[in-house]
Amino acid sequence: MKKNDKLARSELSMETEINKCVLCYDAPCKKIYKNIDPSRILRAIKFENTKGAIALINKDLHFQKNEDCDTKCPLNVNIEYILKNIIKDKCVVSNYNNIDISTTICGIKLENPFLLSSSIVGSNYEMCKRALESGWAGISVKTISLMQIDESSPRFSTLKGNNKSFLGFKNIEQLSEHSVEENMEMIKKLKKEFPEKVIIASIMGKDENEWKYLTKEVTSAGADIIELNFSCPNMKHKGTGSDVGQNPKLVEEFTRIVKENTNVPVLAKMTPNITDICVPAIAAKNGGADGISAINTIKCITNVDIDTLVPEPQVNGKSSLGGYSGRAIKPIALRYISDMTNNSELKDLYYSGMGGIYTWKDALEFMLLGCSSIQITTAILEYGYRIIDDLIMGLKIYMKEKKYEKVSDFIGLSKSNLINNDELDKDTIEFPMINYDRCIGCGRCYISCRDGGHQAIEFSEDRKPILNAKKCVGCQLCKLVCPQKAIDVSLKRINKSLKTKV
Ligand SMILES: Cc1cc2nc3c(=O)[nH]c(=O)nc-3n(C[C@H](O)[C@H](O)[C@H](O)COP(=O)(O)O)c2cc1C
Ligand code: SF4
Ligand code: SF4
Repeated sequence: MKKNDKLARSELSMETEINKCVLCYDAPCKKIYKNIDPSRILRAIKFENTKGAIALINKDLHFQKNEDCDTKCPLNVNIEYILKNIIKDKCVVSNYNNIDISTTICGIKLENPFLLSSSIVGSNYEMCKRALESGWAGISVKTISLMQIDESSPRFSTLKGNNKSFLGFKNIEQLSEHSVEENMEMIKKLKKEFPEKVIIASIMGKDENEWKYLTKEVTSAGADIIELNFSCPNMKHKGTGSDVGQNPKLVEEFTRIVKENTNVPVLAKMTPNITDICVPAIAAKNGGADGISAINTIKCITNVDIDTLVPEPQVNGKSSLGGYSGRAIKPIALRYISDMTNNSELKDLYYSGMGGIYTWKDALEFMLLGCSSIQITTAILEYGYRIIDDLIMGLKIYMKEKKYEKVSDFIGLSKSNLINNDELDKDTIEFPMINYDRCIGCGRCYISCRDGGHQAIEFSEDRKPILNAKKCVGCQLCKLVCPQKAIDVSLKRINKSLKTKV
């Protein structure tokens, strides 16, 4: 077997094995070894915390099998192969336990940046208690209102990727089904039992009186922060939810009413269903908001069933627009966060960012654009509260390696690296470089460059892609389509005027 074939195949089979694992509840594979929990290691890998996975394996120990155990992985994942491949990595992860990842939200201390965002994941006392015990720093509880909430069944639909995980998630759900009294009981109990955790009361009124009433209730129940839901796209009452978020006058008016009736900080939760998110954000600031949380879900139709002709989810033969969340909306959320954090009128507000965050890396991107705290729903819907383990561990290892002492050292550091397109350097080219040790000769780069690029890749009879630098404009589409990560970029940018000489 050729060297490149070997490398490619071993990487592909590692990826295939990892993708086979579905991250079982109380995973059967836990019992296979005496001294190692493969399910925890697989979870770390899947949540982009490979260094954490390495740290979880005590390299001095050989994997000791439980001889009397006949438990097997239901999907026949080749666990031993994965573990051996991981420990082949020579990387040493230094002790990260003492890294301080505390931060603030509206000036209030959070033990770590990670909160449940307002939704079903924080809708009753038992759920919130389990989440807080798992390590989440706080919760924005499911939105409390005085409206009669009547949900439909089913109420979700998804777009899925090749490995069956959610790419995007649609919900047609509204607000908390519990009464105001039940919600106040929950907040009081949570505050009593978890005084160090931060409880955010998400509220939504239909009119001035309701906003005022709910504000007073949640303040006296002991909420640390009030979040104003100006952004739910699924409301039946006109003039509520995202209708308010699209109307700066109402945003300012309701924010002011809330501020006048409470002494706790206020976050205004923004809708992305608007062209310029800064307009309502400025209105919220004018009304007295201390911070902004964003984004809520994006109005969507995920798919239409081509047999029944009904969009999903189908409720007795019909559907409605819903709110899109999860991985697919992260780029849109980051864009809106950056619009606000780069706006001079909105500089001194706190930002709590959300939208498609699954891993510590996703969270870090929101922090680098100016968020001091992070909120999550869809990743929890898919994988449960346990994702907090790798959010915390991954962030700690990153900070240790980058020598950051506190979270505030890096909040907002990427903001200034986003400039206008016409200010970008257009005089130089970064050429792709094909790494023949990794290339498997699939020809995907050739097809994409031929039909979607500049016909700068030739494909030889012995299945080798060859770059024609005279035609290449450095768009790097080839790098993006290569399934083998066999296309890198040259280390140096070349001035366009020198291109004809290449
Ligand atoms: C099933 C579901 C219910 C939600 N309910 C609420 C809600 O009651 N109040 C609210 O402010 N946002 C609600 N959201 C929006 C989330 O809090 C969050 O803003 C959005 O889903 C983006 O984050 P994510 O991609 O991590 O889910 C809900 C989202 C989902 C998926
Ligand atoms: S039993 Fe198999 S599928 Fe389940 S967590 Fe373990 S390796 Fe993954
Ligand atoms: S896309 Fe091109 S560079 Fe990548 S493996 Fe296929 S032929 Fe090789």
